[in-house]
Amino acid sequence: MQIKLVEVGLRDGLQNERIILGTEDKVRVAKGLLAAGVRHLEVTSFVSPRWIPQLADATQLAHQLPSLADVVYRALVPNRKGAERAAQTPIHEWAVFMSASETHNRKNINKSISDTYPVLREVMEMAKEQGIRVRGYVSTVFGCPYEGKVSTAQVLRVCEQLLQMGVYEISLGDTIGVATPKAVKSLLQECQQHIPLTQIAGHFHDTRGTGLTNAYTALEMGVRTLDTSLGGLGGCPYAPGASGNLATEDVLYLLQQEGIDTGIDLARVCETSEFVQTKCRRPLPSKVLQSHLAQ
Ligand code: HMG
Ligand code: MG
Repeated sequence: MQIKLVEVGLRDGLQNERIILGTEDKVRVAKGLLAAGVRHLEVTSFVSPRWIPQLADATQLAHQLPSLADVVYRALVPNRKGAERAAQTPIHEWAVFMSASETHNRKNINKSISDTYPVLREVMEMAKEQGIRVRGYVSTVFGCPYEGKVSTAQVLRVCEQLLQMGVYEISLGDTIGVATPKAVKSLLQECQQHIPLTQIAGHFHDTRGTGLTNAYTALEMGVRTLDTSLGGLGGCPYAPGASGNLATEDVLYLLQQEGIDTGIDLARVCETSEFVQTKCRRPLPSKVLQSHLAQ
């Protein structure tokens, strides 16, 4: 089984940290991850630095990342201004993002769902002109911090709009980590009636400790791409209660034990997470990382 892990720690992980890492430290983290064998990295966001000051150095960072033939760097792009900034950098792939729930969408990107579509369409057109592939994120697919349960029909409506715009993949975000395997199965069963699961990525936050079991359920259903974050860093600043992403180390350990090779060296990821943990001055939540460091 071929599983693609997308390392989102530098973006989703750091966007929620109290301590802002310097660009040099971020480059060191990227190099550590590359040395560990990670090949897909979401490294930053071209969003408003007023909204996400942790990623205000997006342009500088993008220019300082090592250029390697088989590595894909991705960044979030929310609007025309973001696309103009991203287009001036060597970032390979963009990601547009929105929520399935109205209130989270407004809190996160300051627009209604219907007003978001034309803004993202413009980003898609600019990406097409540049020959850049774009992923689409849909947040709050299992629950919204403001509205509670979100209907599958609403999730599918947003996915369909993004696919029509031309995103090559949809990442389904459990933004506040409320899902359990039953919910994952049910949503994916509905989804696969309309979208091949090879075009779906699982983006689980581990707020309630269900991230790993949800990810495993998604893999059993046929999803082949998972977003993970080193050390389990992460969260959405505009989703109260959202904690870290599913940890890269925890997924790697599970896959390794199940005989699934990802080409990523767990011990080397742990070395990089230890560096981030020191910089962030807090123990990172990954259980596998902490057990590795205790040995
Ligand atoms: P806005 O304030 O509505 O934007 O923000 P605006 O168009 O009204 O512009 C206001 C000012 O911002 C202007 O500057 C613009 O130039 C500037 P002024 O004239 O006042 O000096 N501006 C920008 N500057 C730099 N880059 C830009 C940009 N756009 C406008 N791209 C906006 C709208 C979307 C920009 C804002 O709401 C924003 O940046 N939000 C950030 C949201 C975010 O990054 N959230 C976290 C990521 S999503 C997530 O974590 C979920 C995910 O992980 C999946 C999951 O877990 O569910 C993906
Ligand atoms: Mg996220």
